[in-house]
Amino acid sequence: MLKDKTVVLGVTGSIAAYKAADIASKLVQAGARVEVVMTRAATEFVTPLTFRSITARPTVTGMFDLASEFSIEHVALAEAADLVLIAPATANIIAKLAAGIADDMLCCTVLATKAPIVLAPAMNVNMYHNPVTQENLAKLRSRGFSVVGPAYGRLASGEMGLGRLAEIREILESVRQVLGKRGDLAGKRIVVTAGGTQEPIDPVRHIGNRSSGKMGYAIAQAARDRGAEVVLITAPTALSDPVGMEVVHVQTSLQMREAVVKAIAGAHVLAMAAAVADYRPVAQSRSKIKKRADTLSLKLVRTPDILAEVEGEFIKIGFAAESEKLVENATEKLHRKNLDLIAANDITAADSGFDADTNRVVLIDAQGRAERLPLLPKSEVADRILDRARGLLAAER
Ligand code: PMT
Repeated sequence: MLKDKTVVLGVTGSIAAYKAADIASKLVQAGARVEVVMTRAATEFVTPLTFRSITARPTVTGMFDLASEFSIEHVALAEAADLVLIAPATANIIAKLAAGIADDMLCCTVLATKAPIVLAPAMNVNMYHNPVTQENLAKLRSRGFSVVGPAYGRLASGEMGLGRLAEIREILESVRQVLGKRGDLAGKRIVVTAGGTQEPIDPVRHIGNRSSGKMGYAIAQAARDRGAEVVLITAPTALSDPVGMEVVHVQTSLQMREAVVKAIAGAHVLAMAAAVADYRPVAQSRSKIKKRADTLSLKLVRTPDILAEVEGEFIKIGFAAESEKLVENATEKLHRKNLDLIAANDITAADSGFDADTNRVVLIDAQGRAERLPLLPKSEVADRILDRARGLLAAER
């Protein structure tokens, strides 16, 4: 989605300015054309040469900078931008933008652009909490600016508080979300489940499985980047919460069922990539079970089949984790659970299914047509599934 997009990266005078080099690098790696505009104060922290080396483009530092092709026409950058990202954004630039001041190249660009603007504030905790900064941020938000962060943590002053630049991952996810706002899934509500449910045995043990959540998170992120309103219902994983969506944390299959039933109202698509436990202990011991006997029997009971249970005016997509008879078993599940589409993954290969970054799936529709996808990163599998969901939604109209 960032490929061939022009991102104007504004860098202002904060100690976090050095992190902007990493942001520029990641944007370039994602295929964006990155035009860096530094304020004078920013150049005290990092040199323009750093950004020039990363972006292979001249760094703009002033309105009358003869080395820059943009200084001739001071609004040229504003017109070229698909998105303006200011990271880090100091209290000073936030105040200037809120007041409409245009006394440097970055302010002029923001004032003149029609592109969406993302701010990633970074400053001293007291400056951030100062009512004037809060008012300025509220003003900018009401004018359509997106604000990511700041994060809580240790600040340059040694104090702890809100004021750290948001994680670079979060800033980049916000950029993707904002760029994707008018994507092909805009106006659609998509509920995604991810991870493996944990069914408690006692206070310290549970029945679980090897799902990492990567497949479900990839679908949620891809849907967000295509403009959808996303609810991600996730069992415990080691992954960070994606930005720009509602994330509901659950542990057990019963909690996941409750969350799905609640989230599904008004949804257009339900995609269940979660590995829901099929059985749970009949009862959970209140105290830790002692290892006295040589053997221990656990009585298990079936969990609710969430996907089979939920019905409504939405596209139902399931996954099938299979170790044999891939298409046959998945097709049986598709019919039994009344699905529109099922993604059958072969979990015997190391590069697909559980925990891998890639997946090899066969997409089977309600007519029994099977599309065998090659080995792809989970992010691409997610997009292929969403392409099919979009097709099914269009066919319904
Ligand atoms: O999380 P990763 O490490 O990235 O791995 C991804 C994955 C392999 C977990 C994922 O791609 C996948 O296959 N998820 C479904 C695993 C599974 O539970 O398959 P199943 O065949 O048991 O279930 C079929 C479908 O019914 C699934 O969509 C499942 O979410 C749903 N189900 C299952 C049991 C149950 N009680 N309720 C359900 O809703």
